[in-house]
Amino acid sequence: MAAHQVGSVALELKDITKRYPLVLANDHISLDVRWGEVLAVVGENGAGKSTLMKIVYGLVKPDVGSISVNGTPIAITEPGDAIAQGIGMVHQHFMLVDPFTVLENVILGSEPGSVGQINLAQARAEVSALMKDLEFKLPLDTPVEELPVGLQQRVEILKALYRKAHILILDEPTAVLTPQEADELFDFLRRFVAQGNAVIFISHKLAEVVKVSDRVTVIRDGKVVGTVATKDTSPPQLARMMVGREVILKVDKKPAQVGQVLLEVEHLSIQGKDQKHRLNDVSFSVRAGEIVGIAGVEGNGQTELVEALTGLRHYQGSVRLGGQTLPQNARAVREWGLSHIPEDRNARGLVLDFSTKENSILGDHYRPPNTGFLGFIDSQKVEQEAREMVKDFDVRPRSTDLAARRYSGGNAQKIIVGRELSRHPKVLVAAQPTRGVDIGAIEFIHENIVEARDQGMAVLLVSADLNEVRSLSDRILVMFEGKIMGELQASQASEEKLGLLMAGIAS
Ligand SMILES: Nc1ncnc2c1ncn2[C@@H]1O[C@H](COP(=O)(O)OP(=O)(O)OP(=O)(O)O)[C@@H](O)[C@H]1O
Ligand SMILES: [Mg+2]
Repeated sequence: MAAHQVGSVALELKDITKRYPLVLANDHISLDVRWGEVLAVVGENGAGKSTLMKIVYGLVKPDVGSISVNGTPIAITEPGDAIAQGIGMVHQHFMLVDPFTVLENVILGSEPGSVGQINLAQARAEVSALMKDLEFKLPLDTPVEELPVGLQQRVEILKALYRKAHILILDEPTAVLTPQEADELFDFLRRFVAQGNAVIFISHKLAEVVKVSDRVTVIRDGKVVGTVATKDTSPPQLARMMVGREVILKVDKKPAQVGQVLLEVEHLSIQGKDQKHRLNDVSFSVRAGEIVGIAGVEGNGQTELVEALTGLRHYQGSVRLGGQTLPQNARAVREWGLSHIPEDRNARGLVLDFSTKENSILGDHYRPPNTGFLGFIDSQKVEQEAREMVKDFDVRPRSTDLAARRYSGGNAQKIIVGRELSRHPKVLVAAQPTRGVDIGAIEFIHENIVEARDQGMAVLLVSADLNEVRSLSDRILVMFEGKIMGELQASQASEEKLGLLMAGIAS
């Protein structure tokens, strides 16, 4: 890779401004990233981070502002222009073609060889050499759909670097990674900048921002609040700059006052297509007024468990809600009073082309209180409730008509959390409820879940974030390879104890 003048400005943005009908997403943003550094960009949900990065990559056109690479102003009107300048982007929602192999995905769109004839041997040699250089191990002939997310993300990175990216942009790359995968990514980023490249890294996890970056630029309401050297800052200080107030990262809750068993799972098993157990004889219960957390490395059966409980997947064994055995379908459990915050918000939580108002009644649109006379939707009532929900859950912008896809990631998540809690469920199954949400909003969502617990809701919390599981739960179950490895009171669940159980080692 060509060496650049370490310390000189790689990419400079000046006065970037972008107005959407309801918000000024970027308000004269100026920042720079230098060769040899990782610049972190942080800010609340909706602060304008993704918009800014899409502008740099040619996916969104700014109203005003200029971009320079190596001191030379450039025009970027489409991703091809950005790629030509050595700018690469790893999207949060991967843009890979699932049935294609790793090699095919990497070279797609820039295949070597003449028209109509791809020189696969040459491509393979080039990609292999690049992987060696990057210390990446990837199975070139495996379809990407068979790879875990951590490796899929590596394919995205490889793809950008195959196109000779020297400035790499990553928008919330660790939201879907396990802690170990995240550490591997950070190792790579440090190696990459040590070779004289530049990285822009967006994350809501301030501990990792402090770990991986050299400088941090903070954005609030579309404006730059400031840029600080990482060595001179700390997560609490960054939080203050982001939110404009002190953020208490500790959940404040009273001891649980438990009532009757509301969710009772016995001998629950699910077999995969390959006849292997995804869930293997799982039994536990959750009572009114308590939060039971499921800890575990992702992919150990948590997804299947949530799908079974919410009626999205068939299972063997028994699940009783309030003592009743219900049909294994989503409508039946929802009507009984179970709410679900799904892990994949875009696929399961929202209809992206629907408005906030429409999304706010998803799953309950066919029955009172959302319907009135003759079963028609009572649009006035729905509008009014949606307006309240948007206000209570601080969804920004405060619209009930904006399509879900036009919200920032964290605000889309707030719409789902708001909908699921506003219907006052008896049981809440929450999978990764604060993924992609800023720290101020995490505090807020946690407070709401605890408040609902105190009013007698039973909560099953599944989260890849150990801190979240430890601080929110009353009891913790650890899953490993489809089984419950052990149960701990949250007060006794040290990181070490949890770590051992998560690795399949029973104490
Ligand atoms: N296509 C669009 N149409 C209308 N408004 C939009 C559009 N895209 C983004 N916005 C608005 O611009 C603002 C900034 O959004 P952006 O996605 O940049 O935020 P973000 O800082 O990346 O937030 P998050 O941390 O939640 O991902 C938000 O208020 C969002 O609703
Ligand atoms: Mg974003």
